Amino acid sequence: MEVCACTEEVEVLVFGSVIVDFVAYAERLPKAGETLHGHKFMTGYGGKGANQCVAAARQGAKTAMIAKVRLGDDSWGSNYLQQLRKENVNVDFVEQCQGEATGIAQISVADSGENHIIIVVGANNLLSGNDVEKARNLFKTAKILVCQFETPLNATLDALNAFEGISILNAAPALVATPPELIKAATIFCVNETEAALTTGCEAISKLEHAKVGLHKLLEMGAKNVIITLGALGAVYATSADPHKFIHVPVGKVPKVVDTTGAGDAFIGALAYNMARFSSLPWHQLIGAANQVAAYSVQHPGTQASFPTGQVNKGVEYAWKEF
Ligand code: RIB
Repeated sequence: MEVCACTEEVEVLVFGSVIVDFVAYAERLPKAGETLHGHKFMTGYGGKGANQCVAAARQGAKTAMIAKVRLGDDSWGSNYLQQLRKENVNVDFVEQCQGEATGIAQISVADSGENHIIIVVGANNLLSGNDVEKARNLFKTAKILVCQFETPLNATLDALNAFEGISILNAAPALVATPPELIKAATIFCVNETEAALTTGCEAISKLEHAKVGLHKLLEMGAKNVIITLGALGAVYATSADPHKFIHVPVGKVPKVVDTTGAGDAFIGALAYNMARFSSLPWHQLIGAANQVAAYSVQHPGTQASFPTGQVNKGVEYAWKEF
């Protein structure tokens, strides 16, 4: 078996998805059975895993990605590899395989910035526990591991269990029945408001009081630390070490939301970078910095295309409160 000889220090290791985004922009999202005229189309580099990795790399983190794309007759895989190299991501463990197409996403974005996404993950389904074993040196030395739910769950569990540093599980797309061992295995369990409602079975989260129920339920389900991102409301946090304390970190008003696609990934990438580089920062500072990067992203079109290079609002003291 091929084993990682990589010794370069990696701060943020992403075990996750690589997907090519096909994005159509229209005035509004279509209803079921409706055909709409759009006003713009573009392809982009996406997939929650790669997005989070690129967001961390653009912040300044040394990153590596473990993922699968198609070999050969589908040029998307080779193009994506080249793109990740341009973003300074270590791709020693991004494997080009036969048998499955490179993952694709069909995305519709409305003028309000809202989106609908359907993914067909293809080659991402080939990621397995063997890939964890092959990259075991990286699993021993990286500071932060980031995983999502666009790759097989058993492989994700193997990755989380093999990792010795801080792990962030972005449980997206959300599952109605998330295996409890996955929730328990991660240091930080992070979801958006829709995903929190689906994961917990709680009512839709539209205000802070609902978010408190979601945080509480996720702690009960075994999470060690929980972050729920709330779009324009910022994000909330709770920890099993102090389960009755709920923290809200708001985000400033954004002048115009253009495209929300990938904003959650920008948040996770920035969180991973800040945790790797500034591990002694309090939670509200880590979350506040990640909020800023997500807020930047929603004001620009595209997924990775919308992520900032370098920190946003460096050195700012972020407001927070218990709720
Ligand atoms: O979070 C946004 C991402 O979700 C898109 O890039 C798409 O590829 C899907 O994975």
